[in-house]
This record gives sequence, C-alpha cells and structure tokens, in this order.
Amino acid sequence: REKRAAKRPLAGRKVVVTAGGTVERLDPVRYITNDSSGKMGFAIAKAALDLGAEVTIIAGRTDVAPPLNWAGLTFTRVESAQDMYEAVNAVWADTDILVKAAAVADYRPKQAAEHKIKKSGDSMTLELVKNIDILETLGQKKKAQFLIGFAAETDHLEQHAMDKLRRKNCDLLVANDVTAEGAGFGADTNIVNVYDANGLVESIPRASKDEVGLHIMELAATRLTGESK
Ligand code: CTP
Ligand code: CA
Repeated sequence: REKRAAKRPLAGRKVVVTAGGTVERLDPVRYITNDSSGKMGFAIAKAALDLGAEVTIIAGRTDVAPPLNWAGLTFTRVESAQDMYEAVNAVWADTDILVKAAAVADYRPKQAAEHKIKKSGDSMTLELVKNIDILETLGQKKKAQFLIGFAAETDHLEQHAMDKLRRKNCDLLVANDVTAEGAGFGADTNIVNVYDANGLVESIPRASKDEVGLHIMELAATRLTGESK
C-alpha cells in the first residue's frame, strides 16, 4: 500500500542551491568563466520552495535573471569559486540539502591584475592555478547534510558520474550528456540520469527543467525523510 506523499515534505528544511558559472578575474575588465545559464539551479530552487523548504541560492554569473521575488528565497550573488565556497561554507552548518548545480571553474588565473592589462607582445601566456573543489571539500566533512552533485559530460556518462559521486561523497548525482539534443547549456529542457552509491536510480526522459528540478527534489525529500518510495 502506497503511503500518500506529504504535500510539503521539505517543510522546516533548509536547502542551499548553487547555480550559474563562477567568474575568475584576470583583471578588472576580463575574466574566464564556464557555460551555465542558471536555469537548472533556479528550477531546483523553485521546486524546493514548492515542497516547503527555506531556500538559499548562491549564484555566479547567470544568463537568466535571478528570481528575486520568490517568497522564502534568499539570493546571494558571488563571483569566484573561492567566493562561492565561502558563501556556501557560511551556511553549511545549517544546511539540510546542498544542491551543487553551479558550473565551478576548475582553475583561475594565478594573478588577478589590479589594473587593466595592456596589450604588448604577439602572444601571451596565462598561468592558471587550481580552485578549491567545493563539493569535495564539504563532502569530506558532511554530517547529516544531504549532498546532490551535478555532472555535465560528453562521454562515458555513468563512469564519470559514479567516480564523482564517490569522490565527492554525494548522496545523489545528477548527470547529463550535454551533447544530447534537448539537454544541457541554455536549453529549457534537460535529460538526466540520477545515480546513488549503488548505481543508476532513475533515467528522467526529456522534460522541462522545472519538471526535472521537481523530480530531483522529490527524490531527495523521500530519501532525506527516510520514507520508502
Ligand atoms: N564542483 C565544485 N567545485 C569545483 C568543481 C566542481 O563544487 N571546483 C562541483 C560542481 O558544482 C558539480 C560537481 O562538482 O556539482 C561536478 O563538477 P564537474 O566539473 O563535473 O567535476 P570535476 O570534479 O571538476 O571534474 P571534471 O571537470 O574534470 O570533469
Ligand atoms: Ca570541473
């Protein structure tokens, strides 16, 4: 006999969603970043609100405007991966579910010049240094938090997804093949596979990012509250 799902299963829960791409400065007018529209992260946040949670979005650069008028939402804009880490870490102790939908730059320019860099020679070399891995760092120190990671891949989806899930100590990992039609960057729809430590949990066929977001948060709510599906 199926237990009827509570309408607001995340009531009283705190959900933190990172979205968008981090911005790694080279100088005051230039930066490197990652593709990420912010749509998937914002859809997750909306779903979490609909399920009753208190939600914080910590966003880098996004193509879509942030949903500043949603009741129950706290919105924080950050720039670099380091800023994003500090913002997430500041709310970490009080977080029930962390969803890392952001595209975090793996590297940043070794130096951010204080003044605009002037052009000079015919070539220029940029030295990059590694950024902190936010999810991995928090995954290693997690206690009761439920961690949801994302992976955008172009090949060997399952292998990369399971590797990331284990390395970052995630409870769920949402993977998509960005080369598939109707999935990935900028699109309004997505096609994802959700994994847990035992492997594939679910393949969600092409659906709007809002629907995919709701599905993922319902799955998280079910697992967090220990209810069987
Ligand atoms: N992530 C993070 N901090 C980073 C890099 C990634 O928190 N510095 C998070 C992303 O937000 C995402 C997950 O880790 O939820 C996977 O990101 P991805 O870039 O796919 O993984 P990487 O470990 O960086 O591996 P690679 O880019 O080499 O595929
Ligand atoms: Ca990466």
